[in-house]
Amino acid sequence: MSLIDTASYVIHSVFAGLWTGSILFMTLAVLPLAVRGNLDAGPLSTVTGRFKILSRTSVLILFLSGGHLAGTQYTTSTLTGSLGGYLVLSMLSLWVLTAGVTEVAASRLADGSGRDKVREPGRQARRFFQLGSVFAVLLLVVSGLLSAAGAGLL
Ligand code: HEM
Repeated sequence: MSLIDTASYVIHSVFAGLWTGSILFMTLAVLPLAVRGNLDAGPLSTVTGRFKILSRTSVLILFLSGGHLAGTQYTTSTLTGSLGGYLVLSMLSLWVLTAGVTEVAASRLADGSGRDKVREPGRQARRFFQLGSVFAVLLLVVSGLLSAAGAGLL
């Protein structure tokens, strides 16, 4: 395995943790405060802006590093005909779904906080963040299964 492949695994895992963790943090910590009106529009707007930057960066880096890993560790036939390949394709599908849902969620939250509101945008974004969190946890489950498959346990 080359240095680039090793770096891709490391970078991929780092951003996987950062992205999924940030989605869960927004859902479990920030959103309830907004919905209850316990957070001012200014701080909510700042947190949402930082989440957007982290999320978009992660989406791009996960795509590039994951694409590199898929291209070097798999062939078309292993990708479409092995357990590891099915798990990678599930990862790719969940990546699309999570990226779409969190982008909508963050836009809803940012729209309202830009208009000096917090409760209404919090309520509008809640379902999307909740769905994003479910996808994020599923992504971690798929990653764990991939690790187990790589270790020869599956
Ligand atoms: C474009 C989207 C993605 C692609 C194409 C992709 C592809 C891959 C590939 C090919 C591997 C190596 C599998 C192996 O060694 O057999 C991998 C590993 C991994 N991926 Fe992704 N991935 C994507 C998105 C994600 C996301 C969003 C997460 C977030 C949780 C994630 C988490 C991981 C983790 C933790 C591993 C290491 C698993 C191991 O121990 O082998 N990936 N991914």
